[in-house]
Amino acid sequence: MASLAEWYRGKKVVITGASSGIGKDLALLLGEFGADLALVARRRESMEEVRQALQGKGGEVLVLPADVSDRQAMEGVAREVLDRFGHADIVIGNAGVGGLNPAPSFDLDIHQRTYAINCLGLAYTLVPFIPSMIARRDGILVGVSSLAGFRGLPKAGSYSSSKAAQGVFLESLRVDLRPYGISVLRIHPGFVETPMTDHDEFRMPFKVPVRKSSWLIAKAIRRRKAVYLYPWPMKVLTWVNRMLPPFLYDRVVPALSGQKEEIRPRML
Ligand SMILES: NC(=O)c1ccc[n+]([C@@H]2O[C@H](COP(=O)([O-])OP(=O)(O)OC[C@H]3O[C@@H](n4cnc5c(N)ncnc54)[C@H](OP(=O)(O)O)[C@@H]3O)[C@@H](O)[C@H]2O)c1
Repeated sequence: MASLAEWYRGKKVVITGASSGIGKDLALLLGEFGADLALVARRRESMEEVRQALQGKGGEVLVLPADVSDRQAMEGVAREVLDRFGHADIVIGNAGVGGLNPAPSFDLDIHQRTYAINCLGLAYTLVPFIPSMIARRDGILVGVSSLAGFRGLPKAGSYSSSKAAQGVFLESLRVDLRPYGISVLRIHPGFVETPMTDHDEFRMPFKVPVRKSSWLIAKAIRRRKAVYLYPWPMKVLTWVNRMLPPFLYDRVVPALSGQKEEIRPRML
């Protein structure tokens, strides 16, 4: 079997959220393998850093600043990628926002913005590539959801539910697109060291370095893993958590989360 680097060499990969954290580091790793990359996020300078760092690695790097919650802008991104690259082999919808939104002071503006970016943004990222993938009868669509999407975590009504919606959306796409040779993958990370988790509002067990996360995602994509949860200790905790009946869940999970009482609504 080809090495991971050989498999990615020359592949045309779109990554949203490529200006920071998981998306930026994944772009750097796949770029080192020689993939052609289209980077999407709002902060152009940070994506230019990725392009600079990848000079001489063999792949082409397009920097396409856009807001994923802007449908027209994302249709424009897809047109530009298809114009410049001819096709996309892999589209990774990773851009997202975290957030805390405790029910007693629930902020509907945060809720709306979280859904616009995490839910609509994912659809605006992936859907414009479906017709060209159907025509080629090949392609991989990837969504970066979260382990937070399996149950309603405390003080996370907006984030958890947006991540659950992403997972279910991706599952429907997977079923529908399988007959066309297109794979749709759900990636569910646990805690990863990125600016999103650079705070101490709650406990983050088994947090992994971002480079480890990039390797795990890169390997899961190559294996066309339909549903991928990592790291494994958090996968186990998530499965246990999913089994808890409500009377236990409501008491145990808030107590273990280490969340501060005075948490105010905010996006992360
Ligand atoms: N870190 C974790 O522990 C963890 C765990 C599970 C899941 N995840 C998921 O992994 C993904 C990446 O998170 P991260 O930890 O890497 O966070 P991060 O470092 O804060 O990066 C978030 C990325 O999303 C982009 N983004 C946010 N809003 C956007 C918008 N409206 N339009 C375009 N791009 C936008 C940001 O770019 P600009 O600001 O430049 O637009 C940035 O590149 C998210 O979907 C997150 O939910 C993270």
